[in-house]
Amino acid sequence: MLTQEKLMELNEQLQNESPKNILRQALSDFDNIAISFSGAEDVILIDMATKIKKDVKVFTLDTGRLHEETYRFIDKVREHYNLDLEVLFPESAAVENLVKEKGLFSFYQDGHQECCGIRKVAPLKRKLASLDAWITGQRRDQSPGTRTHVPVVQIDEGNSTAERQLVKFNPLANWTSQQVWDYIRMFDVPYNELHERGFVSIGCAPCTRAVLPGQHEREGRWWWEEAAHKECGLHAVNLK
Ligand code: ADX
Ligand code: SF4
Repeated sequence: MLTQEKLMELNEQLQNESPKNILRQALSDFDNIAISFSGAEDVILIDMATKIKKDVKVFTLDTGRLHEETYRFIDKVREHYNLDLEVLFPESAAVENLVKEKGLFSFYQDGHQECCGIRKVAPLKRKLASLDAWITGQRRDQSPGTRTHVPVVQIDEGNSTAERQLVKFNPLANWTSQQVWDYIRMFDVPYNELHERGFVSIGCAPCTRAVLPGQHEREGRWWWEEAAHKECGLHAVNLK
């Protein structure tokens, strides 16, 4: 197990490295590591990682509520990079109970946490229990309220136990949206067609909308809620 001190040292050491070098380090330090792919611009992690190592593990959480375009994009990425992409689903009984009790759009009434908990967080936790480390596309500039301090590497405390430590890499932490899109264009990386229609940050269909020029990307997510609550629980460690 890495001590908190060692982890901070590693974080310091990687702080000014490029995302590709951070990925290189992550993939060489851990065998049992996977990329968590949302079906949006975090595709650049897959592009970079597959240039470093063949058979990179990638998974995505299918909430059952994604846009048709996102489903098409996920399959496009699978083919383009010849990935063994794992698609994870929520537990059917939990979804059935929620829908039976509260209908299909309860999040507009009582907030997104419950639905996200069932459709995203529980399947993610199940997956993380089988890994030693995971890689996300989180960036500091994505959410001023909750992501300004996202480190390049951290211990995922909420998903670690006394016996098992889970390490979380955020190789894009220091990159801006501009840098991500420069990379996509420069290397002809495939992207979700929703980006052509004003969508910037992309999640589930009922909880994502396009933003206007000058609006922050996070304003397109759970727009009926306060900015401080706009984390679905995948990255609970940000809310400490
Ligand atoms: S969210 O917490 O608000 O939904 P966001 O869309 O900003 O997250 O994405 C940040 C990172 O979280 C992504 O780059 C990805 O690593 C992970 N992530 C988000 N949604 C998913 C998903 N459906 N499947 C897998 N990973 C996801
Ligand atoms: Fe449910 Fe919306 Fe969360 Fe998707 S983003 S899991 S639809 S509350």
